[in-house]
Amino acid sequence: MASYLGKNIHVSIFGQSHSQAIGVSVDGLPAGERVDLDELERFLQRRAPGRDQTATPRKEADQPQILCGLVDGVTCGAPLAALIQNTNTRSQDYELLRDVPRPGHADYTAQVRYGGAQDVRGGGHFSGRLTAPLCIAGGVALQILARRGIEVAAHIAWVGQEEDRPFDPIGEQAEILDRLKRADFPVLMPEAGERIRKTILEAKALGDSVGGGVECIVQGLPAGVGDPVFGGMESRLAAALFGIPAVKGVEFGAGFGASHMRGSQHNDPFQMTAEGIRTASNRAGGILGGITTGMPLVFRVAFKPTPSIAREQDSISLSRGQAVKLRVPGRHDPCIVPRAVPVVEAAAALVVLDALLDSPARLEMKNV
Ligand SMILES: Cc1cc2nc3c(=O)[nH]c(=O)nc-3n(C[C@H](O)[C@H](O)[C@H](O)COP(=O)(O)O)c2cc1C
Repeated sequence: MASYLGKNIHVSIFGQSHSQAIGVSVDGLPAGERVDLDELERFLQRRAPGRDQTATPRKEADQPQILCGLVDGVTCGAPLAALIQNTNTRSQDYELLRDVPRPGHADYTAQVRYGGAQDVRGGGHFSGRLTAPLCIAGGVALQILARRGIEVAAHIAWVGQEEDRPFDPIGEQAEILDRLKRADFPVLMPEAGERIRKTILEAKALGDSVGGGVECIVQGLPAGVGDPVFGGMESRLAAALFGIPAVKGVEFGAGFGASHMRGSQHNDPFQMTAEGIRTASNRAGGILGGITTGMPLVFRVAFKPTPSIAREQDSISLSRGQAVKLRVPGRHDPCIVPRAVPVVEAAAALVVLDALLDSPARLEMKNV
């Protein structure tokens, strides 16, 4: 399996939904960086279920155990490794599914790819639970970036037909981003939050699920980070974001909307300002030629509806080669988006830190 990420920092995610533990190792973090473990736990709590009635009633303690890589709370240059014990597993829920693949899940494709040796319990290594260790690594990266004035924040942008207001692509006030990070249900407009919450609860009441999107902004990143072609910020971010289960689309700046515009409507005019060279608009999403412009990075990530739904669905018995009806057991998120908000922040932070480390001197210079 290919569960690693990064060019300068090497992040490796391991474990299965129902194995003894899940975890992460991160090699290449800059040494001498203080990691506030309370802040890290608060970040992980934003992903854990139980904060809002729109999430699964499954309990996931998500208590990280840092094994190595820190001395007195400071990165020491050696790989950082962390575990989360799996405590709330009900494996009997899943035994029936070995023969009957769940629609929308990786059961069938994993069966073909790994010849039946894959761990089917709780989605195995494909589970959304594996985003917890991603958040450990990302939570550390967020702290390293914040120390250099680089803020990463995300919100629930839409669910079904209901939308929050988008980020201002020119930039958002620090207090607004802080409020998002402390919110149980992170939206920019509270009334939009109510409509979005209602949409999720309606789907849940019907034994169904609903898709939606997360919008993310990265502020304070200097111009000149990234490379063209496959080393570009878009390429690197997209690769990391598509590693999050249930992600089906990623767009930067005006994104797919740009393909309906004229050049005169889309190009961002350059300006000299008191802060230096800026653009008057930011339809590029802060990236030109794969390299940061100095404007905020702005991108949206589309999530499909949660595949496990309470309703009966059509599937097949792999052993008998016959059509069968399937009812998926277990406790599931009726919408993945609210819990995915910190996961998107984590993936973005790791990519941004990794890209800054292309020129370690730049990271050093900005250290405060
Ligand atoms: C934070 C998070 C939580 C998730 N929770 C669930 C869940 O409760 N039930 C479910 O069926 N899928 C859930 N998923 C999605 C599945 O893991 C995913 O759709 C599945 O493994 C198939 O992978 P794919 O959608 O990337 O193709 C979750 C994903 C994330 C990111």
